[in-house]
Parts: sequence; structure tokens; C-alpha cells
Amino acid sequence: MKTRREFLQYTLAGTAAVCFSRFPSLAASSSEAKIEILLGEKQGTISPNIYGHFTEHLGGVIYDGMWVGPNSRVPNIDGLRRDLIEHMKKIKAPVIRYPGGCFADSYDWRDGIGPTDKRPRRTNFWAFSDQSPAKHRYEPNEFGTSEFARFCKQIGAQPYLAANVRSLPAQEFYRWVEYCNSPAGSTTLADERAKAGSPEPYNVRYWGVGNESWGCGGNFTAQEYAVEFRRYTAWVPGYGKPLDFIASGPNGDDLTWTKGFFEEILRKGKEQLNSIYGIGLHHYAWNLSRGKTNDWDKGKGDALQFDVTDWYELLREGQRLEPMIESHWQAMGEFDKDRHVKLVVDEWGPWYRPGSEATPGDLLEQTPTQRDAVFSGMTLDILNRHASQVAMGNCAQLINCLNSLYLAHEDRFVVTPVGHVFDLYSGHQGGELVRSVFSAPEVQYDRDGKSATFFGLNGSASLRGKDLLLTVVNPDSKQPRETTVSLAGASAAFASARVLAASDIHACNTFANREAVVPRSAEVAVRGGTITHVFPPASITAMAIHLA
Ligand code: AHR
Repeated sequence: MKTRREFLQYTLAGTAAVCFSRFPSLAASSSEAKIEILLGEKQGTISPNIYGHFTEHLGGVIYDGMWVGPNSRVPNIDGLRRDLIEHMKKIKAPVIRYPGGCFADSYDWRDGIGPTDKRPRRTNFWAFSDQSPAKHRYEPNEFGTSEFARFCKQIGAQPYLAANVRSLPAQEFYRWVEYCNSPAGSTTLADERAKAGSPEPYNVRYWGVGNESWGCGGNFTAQEYAVEFRRYTAWVPGYGKPLDFIASGPNGDDLTWTKGFFEEILRKGKEQLNSIYGIGLHHYAWNLSRGKTNDWDKGKGDALQFDVTDWYELLREGQRLEPMIESHWQAMGEFDKDRHVKLVVDEWGPWYRPGSEATPGDLLEQTPTQRDAVFSGMTLDILNRHASQVAMGNCAQLINCLNSLYLAHEDRFVVTPVGHVFDLYSGHQGGELVRSVFSAPEVQYDRDGKSATFFGLNGSASLRGKDLLLTVVNPDSKQPRETTVSLAGASAAFASARVLAASDIHACNTFANREAVVPRSAEVAVRGGTITHVFPPASITAMAIHLA
């Protein structure tokens, strides 16, 4: 039996599949549901960084996805794919994690600086996957720190760099910080940065100390990793700017990692907590076996070919993130009484078996459907609802990979349903979370002869002055949900909505059909300050409500 940890030492095999369409008929009936928004109950500011992204030197993410090269016929800005930049600006992408993932702990950042033609070719961490074509096996290092910094600058996003703890000494970490952040003209590395076009420092604030250090990041125990974390983060030169260190956190619900890490950190005293900005938490929804196996390969489902039970099973796996956040947060509180350290959910998304690649041969590439859009809306609502615990979220991964917002190959580019969800939700960034209570009959579905349930309606709400944004997921694959939205402490003057829905739960956007799933505007009925609205089946809605 293979676990996710073992997977990272082994390989994946895959074949291409096509996106197919099936349109189940909509059931006519609707159920009574209510959303109550308690405007007096403010629950903290939603960090814009919850809407962050993740990019790794893996398959088609960097090369072909983000980087096409300055001489490409693909429209580009200094080698960076123009369409991608434009779309990321539109969704106000706040932060981007790079260069991995597992790749990070095999990467020497020096390979990716200096004149491009002098940069070494190296074996990529993912080289030995059965699925990797030769072009993805060997890393040309055409894209490195300065290209990434330019990408972030074009978008207006903050860089979040993950340092190599497994295979480079701590000094290399300090030198990378020096390359990025030392003032113009101050050091040899600052001069090298200037030669790459940026005399001014990049001022990278977020630094990950390793990645998945329980697995591909070094096979450490939590205690061993905590010792390394203390050492790597001790007296890192700051150049007068804040550095926020993010510790490599647990795999899913592994509380022993979280507790073991904090226990060891505190052996050197409580003040050690001051050097930790956040602890990472990774959660992939991959096991659709309905409880039959925990095998990493056998448990996975297909991205495109699934039945209604698979639809709910994926959402159920994703929903596990909520209790995970709560249990890790509680465990952290046993050690960090002043609540200095936050959670950073720096990898999340569904993970299917190979077969739905938009570009055959792209490792870990999937074609997202409406199911992944509903999953993503649900996840962003979970992160919003934990605004005071979660400082950052990074969807895995931005382009040509797992839960991608975009797919691209050569001059073709498409926004996936997941990309549209980030657009619908972007207004939550920096908003004040207000408590919302959802009551709707649960969805019932058949789980191999046994009845199973899933929530009927859920979401989150945030306030900015007199503007309230309410996002709502209706996970029911067939039933629309007529709902009353009431506001405690205010009344609605007018409202409008944008909805991402599809008559086929398998609907997806492809290079050939780029607009199968796109947001549509919907009218919202406001009467006497209260709203009545029908949320379509399998949909995500962003409702903008202006308060009287
Ligand atoms: O996102 C793909 C991989 O999943 C990352 O490289 C790793 O951190 C995780 O296991």
C-alpha cells in the first residue's frame, strides 16, 4: 500500500483523457433555507493572503505555464506569459509561494541567478516520475529568483520563498535573503541582483523554512525539524525589514507533528515563538474510495469521470480542512498561549489520478470541473470563517497542475472554473468577517448502499463600510435552494449576484471550449430589507449587498 509520503519517492503513470459532457436534468423542487448575517458579530479581518497561490518547478507550471521566454511568439512581458499576468491582476493575487513544494528542498537558488546562458542544467526533483517527459526532467534554470520577483512585481503580489533545509546549509538560506533583501550596492549579492535588473531589494518578507519536512523535505521527526527551524531562523540578517518565517507543518490531521514541533521549540524558552510567523498545513482531497483503502494510488478518483457519489465524496474530503484547522489551532494554543503563531494553509486542493491533462505529459496536471469550483468556493469559505487563525492560504497549484486556476500550452490559455471562483471571491480580501448562520436541510446521498449526508448550504460574509459580500456554495448536485437572507442589525438597500453554475456537474473549460463555465449575473430580490434568492444546484454565488 502506498501512502502520499511514499508517493513522493515513487512515480505516477498516466494516460490522456477527454473532457465529456453529460447533462442531468434539474429537479424542480426546492427546500426552505435561511442565511442569517449577524452584522454586530465581527470576527476579524480576512487576510488578503488567504487568496494566495503556489508555483513549483514541476511539470508545466513554470515552463510553458508562467514562463514562455522573451523570444516566444506567445504574448509575454520579459518572458512571462502576458495572459496569466493580466488575469492574476484581475483577481488581485496577493502572494505567491515558490519554488516548491518538494522541489524546494532539492533546489540551489544560486543555479537560478546570473546570465541565463551560464546557468547550470540540473536534474529536477520530479524527474523520475514515469509520467515526466524528458523536457520536464532536467531543469534549465531559465526561470529563477529574479524572474519570479519580476512576475510578482508585475502582478502586485508578495513573494513567499521556500528555503531548502534538506540539502543546503543554513548559510545558503542567509545568502538567499541577502540576495533578495540587501540594500542597493551594499553587498556582492546586491550587485548581482542589480545586474539582473533590480538594484533595489525585492524585500521578500515571507520565508518558508523547508517544505513537508516530515517527508520529501528531509524525513525529519517533528523534534528534529524544530531544532533545524531554530537554527535556520536564528539571527537571519533582516536589512531593516520584517522577515516572517513559516515552519513546515503537519500532513493533514497529524497532530503529533504540531505538538512535537512546539514542544521542542519551547525547550529553548517561550521567546522562541517570536521567530515563528506561521506553521504550514497541507491538505489534499484525494481519497474517493469511500473508506475502502488508504492507498495513495488506488484511493484516487478521476478528475472528469465521476458519479454523484464521487461528487459528494470529494467535497466531504475537502470539508475535513475545517476540523483540521480547529484541532491544530487548539493544539497550538496549548503551547502558544499568547497566540503569536498563525496557520498558513500553503497547499490545498483536490488531487486526482493522472489522465485529464490538458497537455499530455504534464505531470500532476488535471482539468478542473464544476466539482473543483464548488470545492474551491467551499475551501475559501472555510479559510474566511477562520480569519483570526489562518494568515495565508495557497491553492495548489496556480497553472497546469492540480487545482489550477489556469491551463496553458504554447499560445493557448484558458481560465478554469477554479479561476472564476477566485475572481468571485476576491472582494473578501481585507474585509471584516461577520458571523453568518446557514440553516438548510442536509443533502442525502447514497454511499455504497448506505445513506450519507452533506451540508445543504454554506458560505461566509465580509463587510467593508456599507458593502457586504456574501459567498454561498450550494453543493446539491441537483436541487436548487430557495433561501431567505436576513441581516441582523441592518437592512439591505439593494443587491446583485454573480453565479458560477453549470447544468452538467462535469462541465469544464478547455482550449477548444474556453467558456463552458463562466460567471453570470443574477438579479437579487430585496423586499423590506430582506433578500429571497434561489441558489442553483452545484453552484457558487457571490452576492454583493449594499446596506441601507
Ligand atoms: O503540490 C504537489 C506536491 O504536493 C508538493 O510538491 C508537495 O509539497 C506536496 O506533497
